[in-house]
Amino acid sequence: MANPFDMVLFGGGGDLALRKLIPALYRAFMEGSLAEGSRILPVCRRREDAEKYLQTAQDALKIHLRDGEYSDEVWTDFSPLLRAVSLDIAEPDEQWDGLADILDSEVDRVRIFYLAIPPAVFGPCCENLSIKGLIHDNSRVVVEKPLGYNAQTSDEINSKIATYFPENNIFRIDHYLGKETVQNLLALRFSNVLFEHLWDAQTIDHIQISISETVGLEGRAGFYDETGALRDMVQNHLLQLLCLIAMESPNKMTAKNIRAEKIKVLEALRPLVGETVDENTVRGQYVAGGLGTQLVPGYLEELDESSSTTETFVAIRAHIDNWRWAGVPFYLRTGKRMEKRCAEIVIQYKKVSHSVYEEAAGEVIPNRLVIRLQPEESIKLVLMAKKMDSLTMELQPAELNLTLSDTYDSFRSDAYKRLMLDAAANNSALFIHREEVATAWAWVDPIIDHWRETGNQPHLYRAGTWGPQASSELLARDGRHWFNAK
Ligand code: BG6
Repeated sequence: MANPFDMVLFGGGGDLALRKLIPALYRAFMEGSLAEGSRILPVCRRREDAEKYLQTAQDALKIHLRDGEYSDEVWTDFSPLLRAVSLDIAEPDEQWDGLADILDSEVDRVRIFYLAIPPAVFGPCCENLSIKGLIHDNSRVVVEKPLGYNAQTSDEINSKIATYFPENNIFRIDHYLGKETVQNLLALRFSNVLFEHLWDAQTIDHIQISISETVGLEGRAGFYDETGALRDMVQNHLLQLLCLIAMESPNKMTAKNIRAEKIKVLEALRPLVGETVDENTVRGQYVAGGLGTQLVPGYLEELDESSSTTETFVAIRAHIDNWRWAGVPFYLRTGKRMEKRCAEIVIQYKKVSHSVYEEAAGEVIPNRLVIRLQPEESIKLVLMAKKMDSLTMELQPAELNLTLSDTYDSFRSDAYKRLMLDAAANNSALFIHREEVATAWAWVDPIIDHWRETGNQPHLYRAGTWGPQASSELLARDGRHWFNAK
């Protein structure tokens, strides 16, 4: 087993820590993958919060772990690892000494400072860690998206962090990269001759990458209204998925090689500027509607405002201008309050060049590879086959289906667990390099600028649907349609 480490969770009492990070660490402990003796130090601003932290964490685990994962026995063994401390991130006063005492009692250990706090306080936090002498050669910092609001603010944040930590010790999280099926995507592409030779403009008609959510604002109204779907989801998660789908094979799966290939894809994205933004993007905002049997309020009601032009949905037609992908559209789509929660990549192959069967045999539907990241993790290949037990020749689609959660009984993927353990093990392959962040913003910024300059209004869509009509029209203009998850 790996060496024990210390993980300081700034923002220990916050939503991210309680919903995702503490449950992920609990899971790692439960599975025996958390090195024995490791310490978790959640940082709270108020002393009262630190004093009752164990109770807060236990309550959060009961709510946020999956059915059957929580048990009092595991909690009894896990809870001594948690040692909450209270301090004000922005003030380098004597409150920091408590944290320093704990860390310095094991001075040689790997230290991970997880900044689950707003980016505005990343700078003061790193500065105070430095003033207090808590950053040593084995210290790493983990930062969460959103890294900035645009290329400029992102660069400022990155520069600030870089004052205190070398790039190799900065771990920028995009939790989508920690999802098991996302990693499987690389295994699928680069370990099978079958796909790698059918992965370009010669054979692929188009690609769809959709992340649909059923949730609304989840108590994050202030943040979300400033941010919108393009910054919240496309700049990071969707573009990362696009990179993994489109990148060339690295000669080895090292962090450096993967990043280099991803950056080439981001650089090859055809810029959307000026009028091309209108032709290739659709913004939407949900109004009240029905989700299953439930009636849910619209965005403005949730926000408690009479107007806002923030998009809760975005669809984009993107092109990658390089040899492999010339002419293949990548349709990206994400939205809140949509009909179904699903993250899916659809690779739509071209039609066969010539149909050898009579019309009566039925239509030859082009092959489709569907990689579903959630809610269940599966890979499906839609093929054409002969209808069984029929004397005449009849064609019908058949599916090769690999449902990973059925195949692996104890399959419990947790992106945060994976990424935190990777940071502890100094494995940065699934983290984002500063240049990737900058290149992604450079593509996204002109889209936002154009929307702002032209006063672009979002198309309204009813909650519980697949987004505005304009999104279907974006594909219909190309003679295509979205594959909505069933
Ligand atoms: C986060 C976004 O990065 O990803 C949220 O800020 C979004 O708005 C979430 O809900 C989606 O993550 P997942 O793993 O639930 O698809």
